[in-house]
Amino acid sequence: MSEVLSLTRAARLIGVTRAELQKKIQRGEMISHDGMVTVGNLLACYPDAQLEDTAETRRIALIKERAFGKRVFERALPEPEVLAARITELSTTLAHSQAQVKQFNALLGKLWDKFGEIEARLDSTSRKTMEDLRIWVKQEVEMATEPGFVNPLAIKDTVLRVMTAQVTVLPSKHDFLVEGHDTLLEAAMRSGIPLNYGCSGGNCGLCKARVLSGEVKKTRQHDFVISESEKQQGYVLLCSNTAVSDVVIEAEVAGSVRDIPFQQISAHVKTTGHIDDDMILLHLQTPRTQRLRFLAGQSVTLRVGQSYSMELPIASCPCDDRNVLFHIHRQPGNLFADYVFDHLRNNDTVEMEGPHGEFILSERSPRPLYFFAFDSGFAPIKSLIEHALSLDAETIRLHWFGSSQRHIYLPNIAHAWRDALDNFRYEEHVAGFDLRTVSGKREEMLRKQLDAIVAADAGLLQSDIYIAGPEDAVGVAERYFLGKGLPKTRVAVASVK
Ligand code: FES
Repeated sequence: MSEVLSLTRAARLIGVTRAELQKKIQRGEMISHDGMVTVGNLLACYPDAQLEDTAETRRIALIKERAFGKRVFERALPEPEVLAARITELSTTLAHSQAQVKQFNALLGKLWDKFGEIEARLDSTSRKTMEDLRIWVKQEVEMATEPGFVNPLAIKDTVLRVMTAQVTVLPSKHDFLVEGHDTLLEAAMRSGIPLNYGCSGGNCGLCKARVLSGEVKKTRQHDFVISESEKQQGYVLLCSNTAVSDVVIEAEVAGSVRDIPFQQISAHVKTTGHIDDDMILLHLQTPRTQRLRFLAGQSVTLRVGQSYSMELPIASCPCDDRNVLFHIHRQPGNLFADYVFDHLRNNDTVEMEGPHGEFILSERSPRPLYFFAFDSGFAPIKSLIEHALSLDAETIRLHWFGSSQRHIYLPNIAHAWRDALDNFRYEEHVAGFDLRTVSGKREEMLRKQLDAIVAADAGLLQSDIYIAGPEDAVGVAERYFLGKGLPKTRVAVASVK
């Protein structure tokens, strides 16, 4: 077993989030060098870590499955050839370790002889010291060879190494685990890491990256041609390869919205589900060869029929770039929504253009994340929260304000997060008036509700705040938090119609 572990692997072994380990490091309870922790240190912080703790790991995986929908988290064993390669690597390490143990045993035998020889030449005082030393060495050796001495983390780590491989991305230093049949690109997306890519299907070459160390394996054929000289330099397509061993790759990661290209995609309607009389959940699916690349919280323009178009926030996670969800709110005068409600059918074509907007997570921030959704502002907030869950964010709070109770239209999703995740809290607030028109007395009432939330939660003003909803309500909330002294960089807003 390796002496040092990445935070991602250590978190998986213990069954906690990376954020929890980072918190311990910040508090000085755990020592880390360059993002790595030693096994000894990990055990000192979690002395009760047992094999059974894998139940916790499974629990977290299940929560994510439920949160994102099963299609995103299909669990599967790695391919037989990948498994065989990993077991071969472990067998080599085992054989090496066994040879070393043999050598050490032989060395111990010689050591006892040497002790005997030296003792025979010593006077009685020195002989006593020598004897004490011999007893101490013997006890230590016996202790180290006791069957119970095996560290449970060592067993877990070995199992983890067969089932997963770790990928480190340079120069950004992101890291993630590859599980099951996942390609390198899919695994990165599930971990919320926006690597550069285009089609996801081996055609465009945008996901080309260089393997600096470790072994990868092509699991999907691709049409894009990588030249011989590039192959020799280690270039592969991330959408067509998986990791056999732990690997280090050199790849570009989108750091801002400017790194995401403008795209035009003809998607088709998978389903249109009525949430209630005024709200439809529109599920679009892109062609296999053309996925929508976006950052959580962004919007796209949708075009339906001959001429109806509207910019709408995406209500799903970039980790599933083929299945893109929208919440369509029917309101008087909104011809796009009328068309969707009255005419749009399964398999119809919808043109997507985008993405737009800068309402995205500030991922490098260590602060807690507070989300304020007003009515259908829940759509981009949902996308952000799902992304934050992929990133194992430490603290997530959601306050959903509805003009009426009916406007809090998908409470079950928030309840499921709250019930399943220790780091997630959720509160609903009914404004009692139309949140699209907020001024005068209504503004006062809304401010009072915000006052009550701040009074009850001391951590709120130390957090990053994300607010989405109708322009009026968002404006009031933004002014409120800026008035409390929060800098503009910590209050992100998006207005949603
Ligand atoms: S994303 Fe297009 S080739 Fe990999």
